[in-house]
Amino acid sequence: MQAIIDATESFVKQALTGAEGGHDWWHIYRVWQQARHIAAKEQVDMLVVELAALLHDIADSKFHNGDELVGPAKAAAFLQTQPVPQHVTDHVVNIVKHISFKGGNNAREFYSPELGVVQDADRLDALGAVGIARAFNYGGFKNRALYDPAIAPQLNMTKEEYKHSAAPTINHFYEKLLLLKDRMNTATGKALAEERHAFMEAYLQQFYREWNGES
Ligand code: ADP
Ligand code: NI
Repeated sequence: MQAIIDATESFVKQALTGAEGGHDWWHIYRVWQQARHIAAKEQVDMLVVELAALLHDIADSKFHNGDELVGPAKAAAFLQTQPVPQHVTDHVVNIVKHISFKGGNNAREFYSPELGVVQDADRLDALGAVGIARAFNYGGFKNRALYDPAIAPQLNMTKEEYKHSAAPTINHFYEKLLLLKDRMNTATGKALAEERHAFMEAYLQQFYREWNGES
């Protein structure tokens, strides 16, 4: 099992060479470690959790013209090269397919405790100090404004609207990041999310004070 994990780690590192700083190998590394931490308190198949954490952003649709099939297909093709039982491959590919937020207004088509763990770990990496860094890095990558008081956040976006939004990065806090703490799957994930959420609330207060010349 360790040989499979090692091979997957090498494959993912290689595939993400040159990736945007918020979706690079180090994002995968953090999600992988956090998923292992959360999984320790859950009844889950650790091989599925580790492989899904490692492969979950192998080809994010944001960086593939919105195509959501590339990631699951790449994950499946890689796993076929490894001595992994077919049911494990199928489970991991299902997690890769269904882990994303995309506005958060879509019904769940697939759920398993293993998906719950990896999704919590991925969501935690969108929160707190690292989450803030990732959001502004992505905004910079897309040449977005930091903040524009004239452009209000849009809740209730459809999946397509969410994918095509070009709003300032501060809006993303209201459209996604601050909603995550109420969508965690595990008790461990929820507790960590509350802590990171509070840090982001404090950050936003300070941001507005500075913006308005009050600090
Ligand atoms: P999705 O929300 O489509 O599932 P991800 O979960 O891959 O996308 O998003 C991961 C991270 O990418 C977010 O937590 C955030 O840091 C960054 N990101 C995605 N969309 C935006 C955006 N519109 N503005 C700023 N950051 C974003
Ligand atoms: Ni991710």
